[in-house]
Amino acid sequence: QVINLADYRPTDFVLERVDLTFELDPTETKVEARLIFHRREGADTTAPLVLDGDELSLYSLLLDQNELPAEKYTVTPETLTIPDLPASVPFEITVTTIINPEANTQLMGLYRTGGIYCTQCEAEGFRRITYFPDRPDVLAVYTVNIIADKEANPLLLSNGNFLGGAGYGPGKHFAAWFDPHPKPSYLFALVAGDLGVVEDTFVTMSGREVALKIYVEHGKEPRAAYAMDALKRSMKWDEDVFGREYDLDIFMVVAVSDFNMGAMENKGLNVFNDKYVLADPETATDTDYANIEAIIAHEYFHNWTGNRITCRDWFQLCLKEGLTVFRDHEFSADMRSRAVRRIAEVRHLKAEQFPEDAGPLAHPVRPTKYREINNFYTTTVYEKGSEVTRMIATLLGRETFKKGMDLYFERHDGQAATVEDFVTCFEDASGRDLSQFSLWYHQAGTPLVTASGSYDPANATFTLSLEQMVPATPGQAAKEPMHIPLRLGLILDNGSEVEPTAVTGAELTGDVLHLTDRAHTVTFEGVSSRPVLSLNRDFSAPINLHFNQSPADLAHVARHETDLFARWQALTDLALPNLTQAARDAREGKPVTCDPVLIDALLWAAADHNLEPAFRAQALTLPSEADIARELGNNNDPDAIHAGRQAILTQIAQAGVETFAALYEAMLPSGTFSPDAASAGKRALRNTALTYLSYAENTPDRAAAAFAAADNMTDLSYALTILAHRFPEAPETTKALADFEQRFRDNALVIDKWLAIQATIPGAAALDRVKELQRSPLFNAKNPNRVRALVGTFAFSNPTGFSRADGAGYAFLANEILDIDKRNPQLAARILTAMRSWRLLEPVRADLAREALLQIERASGLSTDVRDIVERMLKA
Ligand code: ARG
Ligand code: ZN
Repeated sequence: QVINLADYRPTDFVLERVDLTFELDPTETKVEARLIFHRREGADTTAPLVLDGDELSLYSLLLDQNELPAEKYTVTPETLTIPDLPASVPFEITVTTIINPEANTQLMGLYRTGGIYCTQCEAEGFRRITYFPDRPDVLAVYTVNIIADKEANPLLLSNGNFLGGAGYGPGKHFAAWFDPHPKPSYLFALVAGDLGVVEDTFVTMSGREVALKIYVEHGKEPRAAYAMDALKRSMKWDEDVFGREYDLDIFMVVAVSDFNMGAMENKGLNVFNDKYVLADPETATDTDYANIEAIIAHEYFHNWTGNRITCRDWFQLCLKEGLTVFRDHEFSADMRSRAVRRIAEVRHLKAEQFPEDAGPLAHPVRPTKYREINNFYTTTVYEKGSEVTRMIATLLGRETFKKGMDLYFERHDGQAATVEDFVTCFEDASGRDLSQFSLWYHQAGTPLVTASGSYDPANATFTLSLEQMVPATPGQAAKEPMHIPLRLGLILDNGSEVEPTAVTGAELTGDVLHLTDRAHTVTFEGVSSRPVLSLNRDFSAPINLHFNQSPADLAHVARHETDLFARWQALTDLALPNLTQAARDAREGKPVTCDPVLIDALLWAAADHNLEPAFRAQALTLPSEADIARELGNNNDPDAIHAGRQAILTQIAQAGVETFAALYEAMLPSGTFSPDAASAGKRALRNTALTYLSYAENTPDRAAAAFAAADNMTDLSYALTILAHRFPEAPETTKALADFEQRFRDNALVIDKWLAIQATIPGAAALDRVKELQRSPLFNAKNPNRVRALVGTFAFSNPTGFSRADGAGYAFLANEILDIDKRNPQLAARILTAMRSWRLLEPVRADLAREALLQIERASGLSTDVRDIVERMLKA
């Protein structure tokens, strides 16, 4: 069944209030929902009330406190329909259902994990708790009563402010919560159980004191300190930068170990995957710290962008997600190095969103149809959605963007809004027509911009020809030209920038060139000598750029750009042709050679002490095998790509051995461990140097010594990765893996690293390792984090292992997907997307991949989630 945006219409009934009472029991939880409705003004007075359910069974049904006879309604596990309701006066429906949290392996609705009751309701999980108008445009005020066994559940939590609690018969107690802010059901949350807590307070800009609580398993409280710190910084930042103040007396975060996603922004009661809360130096890497900071911020920022202003329907998902990702990106940029964060964002966008946009699962940021909404929590909606928001800021300038945001908060507070509402705020704030720009929400596919420049010394002009093309995507054959904001700079020999006296052929505001037509010829006047062009500074537009710049020009940009991001981008553009050529050569058995211009530029960046270490680490990290595959386009042979890249790495390492050895010594952070960005940057550069040294020296010795000496998880896991990936057969590696396992066997989140490192050892033998690890007592097929760490990482991040030539990797994944799907369809569908680029493989592998997909498609009892993904992936 397909849901279409065009079919949207408001509900016939308005929900005024919700009163929920939960009598918690592991296998038989009783849920009573008292719902007060009235018919919407102007709605059909004979329309029935239709409530959503999912695998529900009705226990009783009352209308205005009187039992409703069976002939007065119809009920299935999926719907409850009540005709003959009052035309004008409000009425109360009391629905009672009995649900089984213990048996809920989908982790949607109310479930139990590690003895804790918790909920996940976005997008359509509330309907697994009770029959309800489970859609985001139904906003109501909730009161929640929770009754439970006191000893097992000392803690009873829900949204909003705590009203009170007391004993409730022998061995039981209850608590009541009231959330004064009208909200849709997907923001409902309940948590009960026995947890430890870390407490703090935050005083808001208007002087209100907010209690902050982070709940974690007993004994893990010290590992929540960093998350608490990140939370306070997030609250302050949202006040300072967006003028947004928190609006309840209490803000709670609960960490649980079985969770389908990263975290969830339930009003006042965020529920987190514990991976994104728990951290200490011994067990968390610098990346873990950065992720915790970003996700704590993301969920907190949803309080305004998502909760106070929510979505009219799920087609508008990017309204809250794209915007909130943009906000968390800006936060991380302010907390850390802006350029280094931008590089990480763009790497992620290109690695995850570009392939999605170029393959069978491509969809617009604002889709117009879906079969299963859970399959639209994608990098397109999130990351491209964030880029679209960023482009609005780039087009309008920061000041006007801020005015537009203020208008949005003022105009739509308390509403369920649309993308059009959002864009209109920026049009009203700026007076600029954004209708062409809005195509970014509606046209799928990564635009391709082709550029070429020429300098005319006689007239002192530089001419830039630009053409744009948006590729066809499923359901969208022909595309209109987009409004593309391209930031640029013209850099002279001495590194200074040209200020042209006039520009014709396209609008230029500041350093932003506005591409609006299919083709532009832009002339810059008053250019006294030949400039080198730096295009798409800061990745101002999420496009593919074809610009045949000479290695010498790219090296010039890499050395002289004022925009650090653009320097990194130039190095990447310099490296990519080397890597693609290396892959071709490796495939044909020819020798691989690395351009000395690339080696020079990299070593120059490595040794430039004016550049922050974190940036240098990024500069030295070559495009990944997946990046190379994307650049090659199709007919990909992962083994050749791997071999070519290894050869290039070795040549850079040999040429730079002294530089890398010196960096390895110099970048040892002094003093005790600190997770701050500067120290993390040093560790990143030091470990990058260690990787190159492992290629130059070609022995496991140095990595083994680093493993033995490491006093933090970043260094330890990095050394282990080098040992396992570079020297899988060495005795040092076997020993290090065993030591690591022994040391961390009681910490599941660290064991996930151990699983992931082994799952990504290159080569065909990886599959047998993965299968063996599945039999390890430390693996648990029911826990999403374990499954993602082992099976997910193997499929997403081990091209030579997963795409081994005999297709055994694909066959394995097909079996796994069918197995996971029986318990947890959302998780199965997500991991299956690892095969989204199967058509770009060379024909033998592509055929084997298709076979595996067909095997899934033919299986009986597939979930809607997996069926939707597999059918889209197989469709031409
Ligand atoms: N809203 C959550 C977040 O981005 C994610 C919820 C994901 N839900 C889903 N059904 N996949 O913070
Ligand atoms: Zn979000």
